[in-house]
Order: sequence, then C-alpha cells, then structure tokens
Amino acid sequence: MADQIPATLIPGDGIGPEITQAVIRVLHALEAPFVWDEQRAGVTAYEATGDVLPEETLTSLRRTGLALKGPLTTPVGEGFRSVNVTLRQMFGLYANIRPTKTRLPGGRYEGVDLVVVRENIEGLYAAMEHYMPVGNDPEAVAYGAGFNTRTECRRIVRHAFEYALQHGRKKVTLVHKANILKKLSGLFLHEGRRVAAEYAGRVACNERIVDACAMELVIRPECYDVIVTTNLFGDILSDLTAGLVGGLGVAPGANIGEDMAIFEAVHGSAPDIAGQDKANPLALLEAASLMLMHVGRADLADRLERAMTTVLIQQGVRTADLGGHVGTRAFTDALLNALNH
Ligand code: NAI
Ligand code: MG
Repeated sequence: MADQIPATLIPGDGIGPEITQAVIRVLHALEAPFVWDEQRAGVTAYEATGDVLPEETLTSLRRTGLALKGPLTTPVGEGFRSVNVTLRQMFGLYANIRPTKTRLPGGRYEGVDLVVVRENIEGLYAAMEHYMPVGNDPEAVAYGAGFNTRTECRRIVRHAFEYALQHGRKKVTLVHKANILKKLSGLFLHEGRRVAAEYAGRVACNERIVDACAMELVIRPECYDVIVTTNLFGDILSDLTAGLVGGLGVAPGANIGEDMAIFEAVHGSAPDIAGQDKANPLALLEAASLMLMHVGRADLADRLERAMTTVLIQQGVRTADLGGHVGTRAFTDALLNALNH
C-alpha cells in the first residue's frame, strides 16, 4: 500500500519489551501506517551480539529515518557510552521535544499544556572538560568549555516557531542566562530574537532568564506555551515540567534531526519492575502519538488521545504509579476497548 511507512522498532531493555508490546497492540488497533523493522540496542543487543548498538540497527535506522525506541539500560562502568547520546550525535538529532500536559484531575496543577524544545547536541553537554593541577593536586581545578553555534541557535529556535505554527500554539519563550553567560547564552538570545522577528504577527515571543523561568513554572505553569532553550537548561526544565503533571511515567520525548526522528519515553528501563506487568505504557504511547503527528496522522493521534482520556479519567483505570490497580496488559486491554467503541 502506498501510504505504508517503514519504521524501526527498538523494544529496548528492562520494561522496554512490555511497554513496546502494549504500544504495538494499540497502534495495530488504530491501523497506524507503520511497517516495523524490529532491531536491538542496549544491554539486550550487547548480550546477543557483543555490541550495544549493532551495525544492523544502524542500517535499519539509516534506511527508515524513523524509530520508536524503548528505554535502554546504560551499564555502569568503563567503556559504555550512553547509546541514547550516541544516537543523538551520530544522527544529528538536534531538537528534543517534550510536551507536558495535565491529564489527571486532582493533581497539583491543572491546565498545564506546554512544550519544551531543547537543543540536543551543543551547549555545556558538548563541553571539553579538563582538570588543571595546582601544587601537587592534579585535579585541583575542573573546567569545561561548552559551545553554541550561531547556526544551531537559529535552527533550534526556528524549529520551535515552526512547531508552534504547526500545532496551533501562540507563544514561544526564549529561555536563557545571557545576563551572566553573555556570549554562550547571549548568542542564543540574540539569534533567537532575530528568528522571532520573522514570525512576528503569527507567533508571539517573550524571554525569560532560566532561574526565573524555573520559579514561574512552579507557580504559574499555565502561562507557558512553547519554551525553547539550550541543552543543559532544557534537560533540567523538561524534567521539572514532567514533574508538574505526574512524573516520568507520563512524559514522552521526540529526538528530531534533518533526516531522522526517534520517539521515546523520557523514563528509563525501570529494572526494579521489569517483567512484572507493572510498567505504565502511557509515556511510550504518548511518544507513539507524537510519531503519528510527525508523519501527518493527527487523526490517529487524536483517536489515541481520546481513548487515553476515556480510560484514565472516565473509567479511572490506571497503573500503580498513578495510584491505580491494573497491570500493563489490563491497562492496554482497557485502551483497546475504548478505541473500539
Ligand atoms: P527509570 O526511569 O528507569 O526509573 C526510575 C523510577 O521510575 C523507578 O522506580 C521505576 O520503577 C519508575 N518508572 C520508570 N518508568 C516507569 C513506568 N513506565 N511505569 C512505572 N514506573 C516507572 O530511571 P533509573 O532507574 O535511573 O534508570 C534505569 C536505567 O534506565 C539506567 O540504566 C539508565 O541509564 C536508563 N535510562 C534510559 C533512558 C532512555 O533510554 N531514554 C532514560 C533514563 C534512564
Ligand atoms: Mg535528563
């Protein structure tokens, strides 16, 4: 069929296979257009092939340019680099998109509906770090030089504005620390303002210093729409915003590059509950919903969103992390039921 879309599926480690199976069942019921090529990465791949990121997986990703990825365990110890970080850099996944929305009533915050657009490959996370000796202490001083490029600052801010236009959002907030980091963060702010000017009259723009933004997100999160910021600030603020609406169990993320998009849950492989039918598949389901929107199937994403609301709110069916009593499979069954009615 013409509208079929090849996509790589990486179930991943720990709870990954359980939540991936749940999501695949749901996508199948939705008649989503993906044709899956299942591949290994992480510890699962290491145990099978001796490589955390086998060539076969990379070949599949290069071919499809699109993936749904379960969490990957990063083994502690020498020689293991985070596979997630490797993927971001290898495929130039420069934008990390993390939407945050209040889904469950009675939580700490109502009416939160915002998106953090985080620059994913530069900033302080690309820092060259060194120690400098003083006297006979070889590690007396630690220093790290991060960098931001004009090109990347423009690209990420443009991405945020284009996202706003495509998703009917009204305002983009540039989050920075240019008052102190006058060059590193100043370049981002300066280029951000120039890009914002091109969207004047279509999408509003304002600015916040990152520390004030953190405070305001806790007091008045409903004032935010799209936040765009550099790598370190985005990492911290996006975990903060996930915490506003119920934590990691409900937070999805998209890693977007020019020719590749990888969708995932924000949480990790949760080894403490793996294989016990306890994992909440919501975050990966939300990631699948972002993936549907990415390929132009907002209609299917809407159906999925409605079914999730029916199950969580009207039926009150929830996994244990959200105070409920059902397991992964029963939650998925309820969702499939809601989709069919
Ligand atoms: P984690 O997110 O796996 O778990 C933290 C806590 O949240 C645990 O108590 C866990 O049971 C719970 N939790 C996480 N996801 C859940 C879900 N869907 N339903 C119910 N409860 C859930 O973080 P942790 O323990 O720090 O990391 C475990 C492994 O995952 C590590 O190897 C880490 O490197 C890796 N990791 C991978 C990520 C990725 O692939 N994107 C992201 C974060 C961590
Ligand atoms: Mg983080």
